[in-house]
Amino acid sequence: MRISRFVAPVLLLTLAACGGDGGTPSQPSTPTVSSHNAGRDCLQCHGFSLAGTVYRDDGSAYPGAEVRLTTEPGGAGDVVLTLTADGAGSFYTDRAVSWGSGLYTDVRGASGTLRTMVAPITGGACNSCHSGADRIRAE
Ligand code: HEC
Ligand code: HEC
Repeated sequence: MRISRFVAPVLLLTLAACGGDGGTPSQPSTPTVSSHNAGRDCLQCHGFSLAGTVYRDDGSAYPGAEVRLTTEPGGAGDVVLTLTADGAGSFYTDRAVSWGSGLYTDVRGASGTLRTMVAPITGGACNSCHSGADRIRAE
């Protein structure tokens, strides 16, 4: 019960700090535009269906990296969505996604090597899991 008494005020503060849904852009990320808060969980403040940040193996942000959602693991099946990371390495869209029982995701950088996430996901808050040493990385 201590937890709920703690969480409620924090949520209120967070929403106040965000001004609700902070100007969520309707256009998806594009390499020629940059954004803020790279690495943070964008969905805490924005109404994106999917968002996150891609890094290179050396830890620098990866503008132009490609992120996809597919219906089958390993980059197979139908491609449901393709996004390109913006100038800060972040990708985002507010386009509705039908997650169903789960979709698969992969990233690709300039080398063309596909890095695939094995487990299916049912939500687009990529940076909520990929933080600290577990960033999304492309090569
Ligand atoms: C703590 C809340 C918060 C987080 C986390 C956050 N944002 Fe924002 N964002 C805002 C607010 C508030 C605004 C509007 C005011 C501003 O530009 O700072 C905004 C504005 C933006 C804009 C500009 C919108 C426009 O129409 O000009 C983009 C793009 C954006 N955010 C993307 C992101 C991405 C991508 C992430 C995650 C990597 C992210 N934001 C994380 C609160 C947040
Ligand atoms: C619920 C937590 C969670 C969410 C949400 C999540 N991931 Fe992951 N991701 C993981 C875990 C755990 C692994 C390692 C195990 C695996 O591949 O399933 C991983 C692995 C990956 C890998 C492979 C890493 C490598 O080095 O080869 C990529 C790429 C990736 N995720 C991208 C994404 C993208 C893009 C999103 C958002 C569309 C996302 N992930 C959402 C937890 C998550």
